[in-house]
Amino acid sequence: MNISNVTVRFGSFTAVDDVSLTVAEGHVTGLVGESGSGKSTLARAVAGLTPYEGTISGIARGRVQMIFQDPYSSLNPRMSVGDAIAEGVRVPRKERSAEIARLLELVSLPASYATKYPSELSGGQRQRVAVARALAARPEVLIADEITSALDVSVQGSVLNLMRELRSELGLTMLFISHNLAVVRYVCDAVAVMRHGRLLESGPVDEVIGAPQHPYTRALLDAVPRLTHA
Ligand SMILES: Nc1ncnc2c1ncn2[C@@H]1O[C@H](COP(=O)(O)OP(=O)(O)OP(=O)(O)O)[C@@H](O)[C@H]1O
Ligand SMILES: [Mg+2]
Repeated sequence: MNISNVTVRFGSFTAVDDVSLTVAEGHVTGLVGESGSGKSTLARAVAGLTPYEGTISGIARGRVQMIFQDPYSSLNPRMSVGDAIAEGVRVPRKERSAEIARLLELVSLPASYATKYPSELSGGQRQRVAVARALAARPEVLIADEITSALDVSVQGSVLNLMRELRSELGLTMLFISHNLAVVRYVCDAVAVMRHGRLLESGPVDEVIGAPQHPYTRALLDAVPRLTHA
């Protein structure tokens, strides 16, 4: 997918400023930057949720799925897990329950969870359901926007491991937004650094994190002291 000179304005304010970035197929590209730098706005432009100037190519219309930070508000409390996943599923009706079971298995939940409701699930389990629902539509690009930030620290690791597994099993093309560079290094192949709506630098994760070109990227790294020992 190619993001070319994409700009998003809200009135006179420019939230995303002339960003160009290639998201390689089958790779996970991390998007990092301080709060308000335009990460979610760029993601929403890619997902077709907000108008933009510029071009986003190499992806069919409607083939982007997004997973959000808060699994408590992203799942309808009145809808069973199976029904929530079924909304996105693109198979004939009689194959639907098998497809739901397959998707639940993909996110390491028992098929029996199809009859459960969100209130019966932990935050981590809800986020797995949100991932299954996104995958149901067989997206060309998956966008994960801070998907572990709202979760208890104890389950963050297992959700990150799930994303790593999915990346190798399905060859997913993913835009993975996170504040945490240690997490980005763990999950992503490439990383792009944003500040004030602009793209500062991008490249293979080891290069950008190992030898940041821009002082701002270095400052972001310094803000994660554990990273040097990770
Ligand atoms: N619908 C909107 N109307 C006006 N301004 C907006 C709108 N959406 C976002 N903004 C502004 O655009 C800027 C970028 O916001 P965005 O949510 O993309 O940042 P972010 O990098 O995702 O931040 P965070 O890490 O906190 O999630 C912010 O200053 C925000 O206030
Ligand atoms: Mg955001």
